[in-house]
Amino acid sequence: MKKILVIHGPNLQLLGQREPGVYGTVTLAQINAQLKKLAAKKKVRLTILQSNIEGALVDALGKSKGRFDGILINPAAYTHTSVAIRDAIAACGVPAIEVHLSNTHAREQFRHISLISPVARGTIMGFGPQSYYLGLEALIGILS
Ligand code: DQA
Repeated sequence: MKKILVIHGPNLQLLGQREPGVYGTVTLAQINAQLKKLAAKKKVRLTILQSNIEGALVDALGKSKGRFDGILINPAAYTHTSVAIRDAIAACGVPAIEVHLSNTHAREQFRHISLISPVARGTIMGFGPQSYYLGLEALIGILS
């Protein structure tokens, strides 16, 4: 059974109440429940982590080699700032797919740059929670 690490970055624990005009009203718990449902159907095992702490995400990525076959990550605000998370993804060598709820290119200039995209296998953005579900399918696709 393939093992997938799902990482949610900072402030995503607030989904559902956080800027609903941008991020919608679906909660992180609901997204995780749907991801688990899809994973069960596709017979993959998910481990899900949310943290607001950059170092916790770097630690998890650093331990991922040998433990996980793939990574689904929404690095949230760290997308635009974190060389450490980018380097951790590059270093671990585990294929990672980057997802975003919003279309960051249609938003403020500072969100147009992703430090993560160059080390991700692909990026899916702009489809709300569906970005995660499409990302999981794509990841399973490249792992099988
Ligand atoms: C986000 C986009 C980021 O720019 C933002 O900082 C987030 C969420 C998204 O999923 O749309 O926190 O990653």
